[in-house]
Amino acid sequence: MRAFAVKAFPSPPELMDLPKPVPGPGEILVHLGAASVNPMDWKLTGLAEGGLVPHVVPFVLGIDGAGVVEGVGDGVSRFKIGDGVFGQFAHTPYGTGTYAEFTTAPETLGISKTPRGIYTGPASAVPTAGMTALAAVDAIGLRKGQTLLIQGAKGGVGSFATQIASNLGILVVAASRGDHGTYMRKLGAYEYFDSSRIGWTRDYRGAHPSGVDAALDLVGTESLSDPSASLVRDGAVVGSPVVAPGASGTTERGIRILPIQLQPSTSLLDRLSAEISSGRLRIPVESTVPLSEAAEAISLSRQGLGRGKTVLTI
Ligand SMILES: NC(=O)c1ccc[n+]([C@@H]2O[C@H](COP(=O)([O-])OP(=O)(O)OC[C@H]3O[C@@H](n4cnc5c(N)ncnc54)[C@H](OP(=O)(O)O)[C@@H]3O)[C@@H](O)[C@H]2O)c1
Repeated sequence: MRAFAVKAFPSPPELMDLPKPVPGPGEILVHLGAASVNPMDWKLTGLAEGGLVPHVVPFVLGIDGAGVVEGVGDGVSRFKIGDGVFGQFAHTPYGTGTYAEFTTAPETLGISKTPRGIYTGPASAVPTAGMTALAAVDAIGLRKGQTLLIQGAKGGVGSFATQIASNLGILVVAASRGDHGTYMRKLGAYEYFDSSRIGWTRDYRGAHPSGVDAALDLVGTESLSDPSASLVRDGAVVGSPVVAPGASGTTERGIRILPIQLQPSTSLLDRLSAEISSGRLRIPVESTVPLSEAAEAISLSRQGLGRGKTVLTI
């Protein structure tokens, strides 16, 4: 099968031909039609290269995908051959990823049947970013009419979170580097700030003198991006899937730092499916490229330059 993989560390990943995997007990074999790009793809590759996570080589990249079940191992009960499925396929040992024609995964992961009428490309863009956005909005727990700053809003998680929050009547203040106001407003944001513009925080404070009710920090750095905690009101919640779980705590101003660690589940996926099927949630695919362009797609993801989700067709 064709796969985008690292043959042996420290070589870079490349397109190669690998044997088709065989599902073990409790596993499904999925013929993938598409995978989507997540920062976790290259972060996991780095962890594997550093020997920090259990993995196999060749190491096939990718955690999100969508396709059709082509085989089932002993004991599989949730899926049958021919089912259309989408989900997050990450499991240890890592390296049996979705940037490939076929992948195997335990059926117990956050994998569900693909909603009717959704093609594999868009379906592959939902799992990690959609589930993280939903879990984050749940965890931050704002009510209708309250304000939420989303930093790094134009990315995958931000594009889902903006829609999910604004569907609940939460007023989303989106911030991203660059001219993305029209895009973010289409997703439901009621205000947009270009965070690459010098002086944007002054304008922001002018618009929100006492601060917003909460923030969701999605900027791909290890610590909270500077403005997050300083732009919210006293006692606000700042949620982030980027900060380490150990970073939780409360600051002098009573601001609660809430690390968000995704626990993928079929119930999160099924809630997303219901929102997509009802037309309330648009899958924010902004770029679709062939698997042969995976290296370029990863390079853009590393720089946080992509908007919405990038899909690799296989
Ligand atoms: N802990 C978990 O369970 C979990 C789950 C899912 C995601 N995550 C993490 O959450 C973050 C957001 O995920 P995502 O899928 O939304 O990622 P994404 O689509 O790449 O968006 C991340 C945003 O971060 C900013 N960014 C990224 N790299 C940057 C760089 N080199 N310099 C400056 N800004 C940069 C950009 O903000 P602008 O919009 O301002 O340009 C970008 O839009 C990622 O770090 C991801 O690994 C964690």
